[in-house]
Amino acid sequence: MATYDVAGRSAIVTGGGSGIGEAIALLLAANGASVLVADIDPAAAERVAKEITAAGGTAAPFAGDVADPAVADAMVAAAEELAPLRIAVNNAGIGGANAPVGEYPLDSWQQVMDVNLNGVFYGMRAQIPAMTAHGGGSIVNIASVLGSVGIAGSSAYVTAKHGLLGLTKNAALEHSAAGVRVTAVGPGFIGTPLLRANLDQETQDFLAGQHATARLGTSEEVAALVAFLASDAASFITGSYHLVDGGYAAS
Ligand code: NAI
Repeated sequence: MATYDVAGRSAIVTGGGSGIGEAIALLLAANGASVLVADIDPAAAERVAKEITAAGGTAAPFAGDVADPAVADAMVAAAEELAPLRIAVNNAGIGGANAPVGEYPLDSWQQVMDVNLNGVFYGMRAQIPAMTAHGGGSIVNIASVLGSVGIAGSSAYVTAKHGLLGLTKNAALEHSAAGVRVTAVGPGFIGTPLLRANLDQETQDFLAGQHATARLGTSEEVAALVAFLASDAASFITGSYHLVDGGYAAS
């Protein structure tokens, strides 16, 4: 297990009830952070928070939709009840419809933008003032390798993830001098419920072969990078985009 000291602070992890977010919540808690496990699925948030407390860590569940700006403020307030907010991992995301641009359903486009891009903006807009008041913090936005390359059929997802990189850079330019570092992480294809629900086995096997590692990644491999970026060990890292993609983008 990667170890980075993040004790004495709270961490918001959105989409913390499953997959990559769950692994991040567990790892940050194991490293000493008090974790607000935030998810639109209340049972999932509850399950992960219980797993953390059963292991001796500190966590609380939070149920809410990141696409609602009021939820962003409520998440910050709930995290501050645990400990000063110094870490936020904006991870909640959805896949959206699979269709070419010329046929892309309007409702799915809007939903993907609301969750994958607007939701991160709402989150940061609430998180940054709290972190600034505490003298600084680290925000890690979970983009994707599809934040820098496209894939046919997923224009809404690809567009939102590319947009997330611009949002990350701007927030870093504006707030790093006050101690708030903002970074983005770009996972390759990771074997999570999101991936398994959206892709058949043949497609999963094909995608695995597109990585230099010839396999999908694990949520824990993403969490290790996020825990580093969230910690003070990454004190000179901001405004940057970090791949954890098994070499997917190398070809
Ligand atoms: P997942 O589906 O396993 O977990 C996502 C969690 O987010 C779920 O618990 C879900 O209930 C929650 N969620 C969904 N919409 C929400 C909303 N509106 N408000 C609050 N919570 C919400 O997904 P996975 O694979 O762990 O993905 C997490 C992040 O990683 C996403 O941003 C995704 O785009 C990104 N990612 C995933 C990759 C993969 O191959 N699985 C690759 C690259 C990036």
